[in-house]
Amino acid sequence: MKVAPSLLAADFSCLAQEVKRVEAAGADYLHLDVMDGHFVPNLTFGPLVVAALRPHCRLLFDVHLMIEAPERYLADFAAAGADLITVHVEACSHLHRTLSRIKEMGCRAGAALNPATPPQALEYVLELLDLVLVMSVNPGFGGQTFIPAVLPKIERLSGWIKNRGLNTEIAVDGGINREVALAAVRAGARVLVAGTAVFGVTDPGVVIKEFKSFS
Ligand code: DX5
Ligand code: ZN
Repeated sequence: MKVAPSLLAADFSCLAQEVKRVEAAGADYLHLDVMDGHFVPNLTFGPLVVAALRPHCRLLFDVHLMIEAPERYLADFAAAGADLITVHVEACSHLHRTLSRIKEMGCRAGAALNPATPPQALEYVLELLDLVLVMSVNPGFGGQTFIPAVLPKIERLSGWIKNRGLNTEIAVDGGINREVALAAVRAGARVLVAGTAVFGVTDPGVVIKEFKSFS
């Protein structure tokens, strides 16, 4: 099990300290939510903030692009220090090409599915993917409630990945807390993305350790 704290729930007045706090607490990835005010109704940050944080943290940088036409910015995020770049299938006209470009830039490639998007959207690109990000809330905001209807989608993807002998990781993002994390893991999730549950507590180490113990 891997835990990816989502920076969206951090204290934005001291991001470098916040990143160090979750690294010391045992996080595996740092999940960075990029929003453009078009694909999702909210705005966050771009490659400048990713680059500014890079020297402060050794965690794998997992950049979740909630932006329209993400191919326009892949090179900027790769140069900023992204290790894994995840794009939304709903935001890509040419998903296969976009994923191939991410890999050509030397990054790992991820694809995200909104709650209403069926797993079949990934059926013909699964071999290109290092990670599938199953959204368990409608993207745009932290602190929302987990949507249990995505659990069968995780099971379906997990079955395809096993049948094809792939190493693709399934991550689940949104509303992850103690109560729902185990159900997501049982369905096949191997990376738990969590904002509020990790950054919102005094001792993130306790939560991260508990999440990592699930199987
Ligand atoms: C939602 C983001 C999530 C968000 C999760 O659009 O993609 O990564 O930060 O936050 P919590 O864990 O608070 O639901
Ligand atoms: Zn996210």
